[in-house]
Amino acid sequence: MTTLDQQTALEQAARKRIKDSHALDGDVGRLTHFYRGWASSYELDVGHDKYCGPTIMAELAGAVQTAYLANERTAIAVLDAGCGTGLVGVELERLGFRLIDGIDLSQEMVEKARQTRVYRHVQGDVDLNGPLPDHASGSYDITVCCGVFTLGHIRPDALRELARVTRPNGFVIISTRKSYAETTSFEDQVRRLQDAGVLETAQCLKDGKYIAEEGAHYWVFKVPDRVCAEAEQQL
Ligand SMILES: C[S@@+](CC[C@H](N)C(=O)[O-])C[C@H]1O[C@@H](n2cnc3c(N)ncnc32)[C@H](O)[C@@H]1O
Repeated sequence: MTTLDQQTALEQAARKRIKDSHALDGDVGRLTHFYRGWASSYELDVGHDKYCGPTIMAELAGAVQTAYLANERTAIAVLDAGCGTGLVGVELERLGFRLIDGIDLSQEMVEKARQTRVYRHVQGDVDLNGPLPDHASGSYDITVCCGVFTLGHIRPDALRELARVTRPNGFVIISTRKSYAETTSFEDQVRRLQDAGVLETAQCLKDGKYIAEEGAHYWVFKVPDRVCAEAEQQL
């Protein structure tokens, strides 16, 4: 087998694992099992498939801090929801963020994230499809979630909890794989949350680069000042 053949075989195997990860139907048991087996080769696989989501997410977080937030980056509390092995945390740290927490379903992925040493706290066994009881409302200035609003992983309504743990006038930044956005009525959910005063769309980069086979939309949501939102609802 030539080096080129070997490279092609590695890329094909990586694509197959990525595709298999999309067929888990959001089932916590299957997702946990799958990522337990994938944690050691995840970064190699997504690297083969030119995954640039984490870089774009971190750069959006940097732009949001520069444009809107009063505090320096070192004082901005960021939650990396579905942190995986820590690719987003590493990019955030490179851009000057220092107070980064990570949560994820998979203990094995989280262990890799811990080893990067860029996170303040990391926690596994956290299901983003449910409530986040260990996280008080309004704990974070910025919440990021990259590569998790994707096929077979979490439902669009998980966005509500991400907004809850983010402080008023803070930001939630997420990626949605294009095919996920199309097949889950993600935009309807965004409209419902906007109508309920849970969040406002501040920016959306449509069909940006993400991974070789497909692009993603990158969303920046602002969490409204709750006092104002509640007052408006009462009018
Ligand atoms: C494609 S990886 C993305 C990881 C990381 N954010 C990145 O960009 O490299 C998806 C991650 O979502 C996590 N995940 C899947 N379903 C989840 C759920 N219901 N709750 C929390 N995390 C979940 C997986 O364990 C995995 O680490």
